[in-house]
Amino acid sequence: MAEPARRVYLDHNATTPLDPRALAAMMPWLAGAPANPSSAHFFGQAARAAVEEARAEVAALLGARPIDVVLTGSGTEANNSVIFDLAEREPPGHVVLSAFEHASVRAAVERLVRRGWEATRVSPGSDGAVRADDVVSAVGEATRLVCLMLAQNELGTLQPVPEVAARCRARGVLVFSDAAQAVGKVPVDVAALGVDYLTCGAHKIHGPLGAGALWIRPGAPFGGWLVGGGQERKRRSGTENVAAIVGFGAAARGAREELGARAARLAGLRARFERGLVAAIADVSIHCAHAERLPHTSHLAIAGVDGQELMIRLDLAGFAVSTGSACGSGAVEVSPTLRAAGYDEREAASSLRVSFGPGNDEEEVDLFLAALAREVAALRRPIAAVGR
Ligand SMILES: Cc1ncc(COP(=O)(O)O)c(C=O)c1O
Repeated sequence: MAEPARRVYLDHNATTPLDPRALAAMMPWLAGAPANPSSAHFFGQAARAAVEEARAEVAALLGARPIDVVLTGSGTEANNSVIFDLAEREPPGHVVLSAFEHASVRAAVERLVRRGWEATRVSPGSDGAVRADDVVSAVGEATRLVCLMLAQNELGTLQPVPEVAARCRARGVLVFSDAAQAVGKVPVDVAALGVDYLTCGAHKIHGPLGAGALWIRPGAPFGGWLVGGGQERKRRSGTENVAAIVGFGAAARGAREELGARAARLAGLRARFERGLVAAIADVSIHCAHAERLPHTSHLAIAGVDGQELMIRLDLAGFAVSTGSACGSGAVEVSPTLRAAGYDEREAASSLRVSFGPGNDEEEVDLFLAALAREVAALRRPIAAVGR
């Protein structure tokens, strides 16, 4: 098949293109002099200054103090470290989490369960959000941590973190929010959220792959999970990835300065897409359309169409999106998120996630809609013929 005339990236929840300003800021640290921020000499101190400048930018994006931000190698590492550090400090107890946390939270909690911890997974409603009441009523005497992400990565729905945090903290229970998908898309302020731990990653906000952050509320316990050289005030050992951190800082600055404009633009693109979608294709459901959700994420199901097949056809036509199910060993594997939200196998198998970015424009939305209508018609045709 011929290479498509144009490739359109509509999978910004998976990762985002690097902000050219982040790339420019990173280049001297990739191509320049050696730079270990722990070294006392000139080269080391230059790197230290660059890391601290970047930390201040990440902190500003979160409404936090730089000293409370620990720079990590990824969002996954930040998430794992909150949970494994808890298990290091405390004897086995109880953890409450939403049933559709990111795998880096779910799998870490599962490891704790194998070591004698108990976990309660709170299911969301069909609007893609957990109820604060359900989370709080799962909290018991033995509960040591509540994990509730700020924005769900597949459905894009926002979760009631401020209410959960306020009610859990009143009971002395620590609250952790994975904000990887929310940061840079909606305003995030750690004080307003009231959580104890919050995490995010650079590559979701047009920074480089391989950098993340963990914010720790002053006074919240955290011993440090990676041990070694004692970097990051003993909270995360390992020589800092200076170039990635500098890129993260530049991306965080861009996200903070442009958050409002980007959100308005993305919401406009999504509204155009969703309007066009229901007009062009029959039997489409837009999931959680009336819930509070990220401005750029659209999650939908197209009846009678296999999402995997559709995704592959769209890719061949030049459009990158993702699906809500995967085909493993001949069986459809429904994403745990969609299962938790109560979607059945059929709905999940026909679902698609489209996530826009500031680089997309209206012309691309229209081109995508035309391609989607064409591919859906092609996939539905044989099914109609069989039905006759
Ligand atoms: C909600 C959420 N948390 C954590 C992560 C993991 O981040 P990273 O890719 O930086 O490890 C992701 C990435 O997909 C995510 O969507």
